[in-house]
Amino acid sequence: MNLSNISHEYDEKGFIVIKSLISNEDNERFLKIAKSYDSGETTNENISYFPHPIRFFDPRMYKQFSKWLSIQFYRDCFFLSTRTKQKNFQSVINSLDYDGFKKISRIDSYISKKSQDDPTEWHTDQAFGGATNPAEFFGGTSGLMSMNNINRLFIHSTSVQYLNGCFSYIPYSHKINISMRKLINSGKVRYKPFYLLEDAVNLVKGDYHRELLTLCTKEEIDQFINHGSNALKSDKDYVLECEAGDAVLFNDFGYHKGTAPQSNDRIVFRYWY
Ligand SMILES: [Fe+2]
Repeated sequence: MNLSNISHEYDEKGFIVIKSLISNEDNERFLKIAKSYDSGETTNENISYFPHPIRFFDPRMYKQFSKWLSIQFYRDCFFLSTRTKQKNFQSVINSLDYDGFKKISRIDSYISKKSQDDPTEWHTDQAFGGATNPAEFFGGTSGLMSMNNINRLFIHSTSVQYLNGCFSYIPYSHKINISMRKLINSGKVRYKPFYLLEDAVNLVKGDYHRELLTLCTKEEIDQFINHGSNALKSDKDYVLECEAGDAVLFNDFGYHKGTAPQSNDRIVFRYWY
């Protein structure tokens, strides 16, 4: 992939697909690691790893990892965190020159068992769920919307296709979402739940439409409404098919969805930036 353009593409679309980020040989080890800590009892059981070798020496970290501590666990964490130093990985991250972007806050893995049920609907993250009054609902919070997105890197350790475990994302939707947050925080519109895509499309068409035009172009707004309405009918146009070793980096303010792995178990590693 042409690295000189990925920063622009990521800013514009809110996601990029990075082919062959992890070599086949390393991917074997990723698979082995995910399987060795998964109890097999529940689906999407989340396993966290030390995100950085320095954290091995931080006693505050130990509580959350105490279940796994062993020499092998240290080795596995070291392997996972040092993959980011490999030439291929490093050059991708370096070409996305965001402040603080190079720092990983968390690495985890989970296995989604073969299933017919989509794990999530179309949604955005950090949006107060479906609360109608966040300040009241969360007791003591300001009710302000976060303006700092998390950049999430999903590394696929198994291949995913349409109707089989694909992650889906609506391009450009993070921009509308950021504008809605701005309007809410400045008091120009009243907060209404927009965690789910359906709610967001209705607000963009209706209650937030006039104010949004002060921050976005009509084309951007129409594009969101069209993509959003289309995605609610079918994921097909928005699935990001990947081979094992490919990765998806996305801005978590954009609307996204996980789909059921209908043919085989799906194994994903997530790096949070
Ligand atoms: Fe999400």
